Amino acid sequence: MCGIIGIVTGHPVVTGLISSLKLLEYRGYDSAGIATMQDGQVWRERAAGKLANLEKKIKDDGVSEGGIGIGHTRWATHGAPTEGNAHPHIVDNVIIVHNGIIENYAELRDELIKNGANIQSQTDTEVIGHLISNQLKIDSNIETAVQTAVGRLTGAFALAIMIKGEENLLIGARKGCPLVVGIGDVEGHYIGSDALALSPFSRQIIYLEEGDFVFATRQNFRVFDQAGTLVTRDVNHVEVQSATMDKGNHKHFMAKEFFEQPDVVQKTLSHYLDMKSNQVTLDSKLDISKFERIVMVSCGTAYLAACVAKYWLEENVNMSVEVDVASEFRYRKPALNEKCLFVVISQSGETADSLAALRMAKNKGCTTLAIVNVPTSTMAREADIILPTFAGIEVCVASTKAFMCQISVLAALSIGLGVQIGRLSHADATSMAKQLAQLPRLINDCFAVEKDIVKLAHEIANVEHVLFLGRNTSYPIAMEGALKLKEITYIHAEGYAAGELKHGPIALVDENMPLIIIAPDNEVYEKTRSNIEEIAARGGDITVLTTQKRAKEIQKLGLKAIALPDCSSFLAPFIYTVPVQLLAYHTAVHMGTDVDQPRNLAKSVTVE
Ligand code: AGP
Repeated sequence: MCGIIGIVTGHPVVTGLISSLKLLEYRGYDSAGIATMQDGQVWRERAAGKLANLEKKIKDDGVSEGGIGIGHTRWATHGAPTEGNAHPHIVDNVIIVHNGIIENYAELRDELIKNGANIQSQTDTEVIGHLISNQLKIDSNIETAVQTAVGRLTGAFALAIMIKGEENLLIGARKGCPLVVGIGDVEGHYIGSDALALSPFSRQIIYLEEGDFVFATRQNFRVFDQAGTLVTRDVNHVEVQSATMDKGNHKHFMAKEFFEQPDVVQKTLSHYLDMKSNQVTLDSKLDISKFERIVMVSCGTAYLAACVAKYWLEENVNMSVEVDVASEFRYRKPALNEKCLFVVISQSGETADSLAALRMAKNKGCTTLAIVNVPTSTMAREADIILPTFAGIEVCVASTKAFMCQISVLAALSIGLGVQIGRLSHADATSMAKQLAQLPRLINDCFAVEKDIVKLAHEIANVEHVLFLGRNTSYPIAMEGALKLKEITYIHAEGYAAGELKHGPIALVDENMPLIIIAPDNEVYEKTRSNIEEIAARGGDITVLTTQKRAKEIQKLGLKAIALPDCSSFLAPFIYTVPVQLLAYHTAVHMGTDVDQPRNLAKSVTVE
């Protein structure tokens, strides 16, 4: 996801722009650029690749002293990640950066070319610059000209704009992608993709709403809503610990965030679980008796959290639970109505497909519930009910602690709703709540397998394909293990239902096919054990993740096994997530891939 920063202070802004872009790196990008204005001149530097390349160019070419500027980290959507496609784009007097996708950019581009425009890049962003430039030629009022031009766009965007010659005017607009305004601690105003980007300069944050425009000078700012009405938006005091951007004594953010899991699970659970009475408390607006079914929709790792919860909710609430990926759900024609509880799960709270699914469900009368890690996110502000996770800022593109917190909330939700609907007795609920209270310690105990995992990682690092297998709630964890491995090592991996293997994929099994089999000692262990034997008979390179007792049995078969702490079936998804996260991490470290910012990936995908 692209990152945007804009600064208007009257003092040299280049250092501030770069420091903000560094705080936005975690979102994923493949090129970057900044532009400033001074004495009627526009200064711009852009570079493909990492920010270090941009900083080198600025150093080599000489830095600007301009007191107004905009900056951008680009995650390529239209056009390759080249310097020519990097933002800011300059069209006549318009200097612009953009996050999002303009869906009607092709027809607008054709119209512009037909009217003689000289399009330089492959980006949709440049088209916006032409529209604004053309409108300024017929409307000298900058505020109305920009609103008119931007009003022609369909799709999702967050924009920061400067107009050459207007060296005390910073313009922003948002529709579908987040954009915030910061009031300078000392002076000036700032525009950024999130509060973190502005944390070096401001704690007074305004979260622009859908369709808002902002026109900011050093002295003040004006916000217009999508109807063009001048509005007042709340100013929030936001303390974002930019220290969060510190890896501590870890080599990667992924390691830091991985080892934070006991703490953040504890923090998240304590929001829902009274550790003394072992009672779960949910949002008072949540009344399960109003619903006949539950629909859960998310993307990526968040979707897999929903897949785990499906088993818990079906068992504890005895209700139909449908789970789907948002990119499919939003284009289906599902039967939704007020009898449906619609649950969206999202770390960022900004994922475009998940947000679109949420809006679709709302439009069809569902009560919407969002499990999000960013309480100020768009999903948090649009859903009827919010169940927050408290993972803290997750910088690594690969989600670890956020996932563990998501399934923590979902576990508490399944207990709370089970009690509400009368399916869980007080004793059952108390017992399950007590189990959840053990999680921080149990997750911490799992770290002991790291040395075994490192050894396995060095074997995995040399293969091209890996299969992860599991049954029941271990099946989504198998898929999560495969997703983690794919996204940070680029090794092809699949998570599969262990019982499904013989319906085709077992044809893949030979001595070159490593299989990671998740086999907690639960009600389906014996079934999984049969699958292990089937695979062993065909020479598969098997590693079983299981309990101490079962590990000994497996090792007697001459197979590899890694023992995890004993736990209940209810806690197994948490416990068996730890080794698959570790495996992906150590394999990536061994291979030397970019653990925290893997190629082609963004932390939050705010485009379709
Ligand atoms: C997880 O490791 C991935 N980075 C990705 O699948 C992510 O879970 C997905 O993009 C959803 O993001 P969200 O939770 O912010 O909506």
